[in-house]
Amino acid sequence: MSQLKFKSNAIYGAGLGLRASHYQEVLSSKPNIPWFELLADNYMSDGGLPIERAHKIRQNYPITLHCVGMSLGSCDPLNINYLTRLKALSEKLEPAYISDHLAWASIDGQYTHDLLPLPYNAHTLDHMCERISKVQEFLGRTILIENPSSYLTFEESDMTEWDFISQMAKISGCELLVDINNIYVSSINHKFDPLHYVASLPAEKVKELHLAGFTKMDNYLLDTHSEKVHPPVWQLYRAAIKQFGATPTLIEWDSDVPDFATLHQEALTAERHMWALSQ
Ligand SMILES: [Fe+2]
Repeated sequence: MSQLKFKSNAIYGAGLGLRASHYQEVLSSKPNIPWFELLADNYMSDGGLPIERAHKIRQNYPITLHCVGMSLGSCDPLNINYLTRLKALSEKLEPAYISDHLAWASIDGQYTHDLLPLPYNAHTLDHMCERISKVQEFLGRTILIENPSSYLTFEESDMTEWDFISQMAKISGCELLVDINNIYVSSINHKFDPLHYVASLPAEKVKELHLAGFTKMDNYLLDTHSEKVHPPVWQLYRAAIKQFGATPTLIEWDSDVPDFATLHQEALTAERHMWALSQ
C-alpha cells in the first residue's frame, strides 16, 4: 500500500527538472510547480540523502522518473541490476511516467556518459522494440522513449527518425517523450523540416514534451541545456501544442543552472503558450 501522503501522480502543465542546487529552496518554500522530473539514476541507492530528499519532494509533488542508463539501443544484455533498482524506486515514488532515450550508452558492460545514436533501419527497429518490450514487461508498465539530438547520420539508415519513432511506438507499445529542442537542433544539423517531424508523430502516443536551450557552435547547434529556450524552439513548441494538445512539458536546464526563479519563469512561459493554444 502506498506510503505517500500526496497520492496523485497525475501531471499537467509545465514542470521542472529537480536540480541539487534547488533542493533546499523547493523543500522550504514549496513553490507552485505542478510536478518535478527526477533523474532516476541519482536516486537508486537503498538509503542516504538523495533518496531521503526524493521522498520529501514526492510528499509534495507528482514526479516523473527520467533515466539515462537503460542503454536500450546497446547490444549488451539488458542490465537487470539497474532495472531491479529502477523498479524498486518506482514502487517507492509512484511516478507518473518512466522515460529513457532512443540511444545506446554501453558496450561490453562499460558505460559512457553520453547517449549515443543508432542507425535507423528495420534491424535496429526490431532490436529497440524487443528491448523496450522486455523492459516494459519487467517494470509492469509502459515507458516513454525520448528522441535524441544528433550530430551525425549513418550510411546504414534507410528511414527517417520520425518514421522510426512512430513505428517503434506502434510495435513496442511504448509512449513518447518528445524533446522539442532536440528536434530543432537536429533539424538545423541535418537540414530537415522540424514542423514535418512534429506533424509526422502519432499524437495519441505523445505523453510529455521537453524544452531546453541549445548553444550555437561555428557550424552546428549543440544540445547543452545551458540557456533559456530559444525563440525558434518556442515556435516549434507552439506547433507541437496545436497538434498534441496541452501536453505536460518539462524545462531542462543542466549546465550553468540559474536561480530557481529564472527556471520557474521558463516554466510559466511554457504554460502561457500551452493554455493559450490548447483552449
Ligand atoms: Fe530532453
